[in-house]
Amino acid sequence: MSTSCNTHPVGSSVSSYTRPDHYTRRAKAQGLPARSAFKLEELAKKHRLVRKQGRYLDLGCRPGSWSAWLARRAGTGAVFLGIDREPCDNYVGTFLQCPIEDLSPATVAEHLGGPAQVVLCDMAPNTMGAKDVDHLRQIALAEAALALALLVLDPGGCFVCKVFDGRDAPAFVQSVRAHFATVRRHRPKATRSRSCEFFLVAEGFQPEPA
Ligand SMILES: C[S@@+](CC[C@H](N)C(=O)[O-])C[C@H]1O[C@@H](n2cnc3c(N)ncnc32)[C@H](O)[C@@H]1O
Repeated sequence: MSTSCNTHPVGSSVSSYTRPDHYTRRAKAQGLPARSAFKLEELAKKHRLVRKQGRYLDLGCRPGSWSAWLARRAGTGAVFLGIDREPCDNYVGTFLQCPIEDLSPATVAEHLGGPAQVVLCDMAPNTMGAKDVDHLRQIALAEAALALALLVLDPGGCFVCKVFDGRDAPAFVQSVRAHFATVRRHRPKATRSRSCEFFLVAEGFQPEPA
């Protein structure tokens, strides 16, 4: 069996990742694309993630459950730009199939129509079964998301980011703290017990003085 975090056991056809659980059944009942919506729901109970008519950048958006959950609450004027390297059908806003590494701040501003109030990052690499490698690849995605968030967020804006825990996670958390008034770490109940993920919610973006 693989020891990697967030990885299906090799050779297992029915893993804890594919077996429908309480959250999967709830997502289906509510017409949401995936159970991960309930991770965001938990974060939103503690933080002001729902911004009426807000502009949302949704990094690693596929299959679209975070945005679907938010769109039901953020009102008709809310604008969503979803980014994923894989195709994503029926996205609630504008979807661009594009790796984050190729996404420019100008493209984000063009599609959102202004600075983002909220940048969401739920990006995860295809896990390899090697915990350290998976961790480093995921941290690289989180770092790319932070770098972009610093260029597209409104002052006071919010950054939500998935992090695979491991050696470089504390340094990443510190780098987020440098730019936001508050940074909180959460492990939602909807996160699978085998997963090493946690989420940062960083609020009160403080841009560098020009
Ligand atoms: C856990 S899923 C996101 C689930 C999504 N938040 C939702 O609510 O449905 C992670 C996504 O990150 C995407 N991803 C991984 N590496 C990426 C990259 N370099 N650029 C853009 N998306 C990436 C994957 O394709 C995958 O769809």
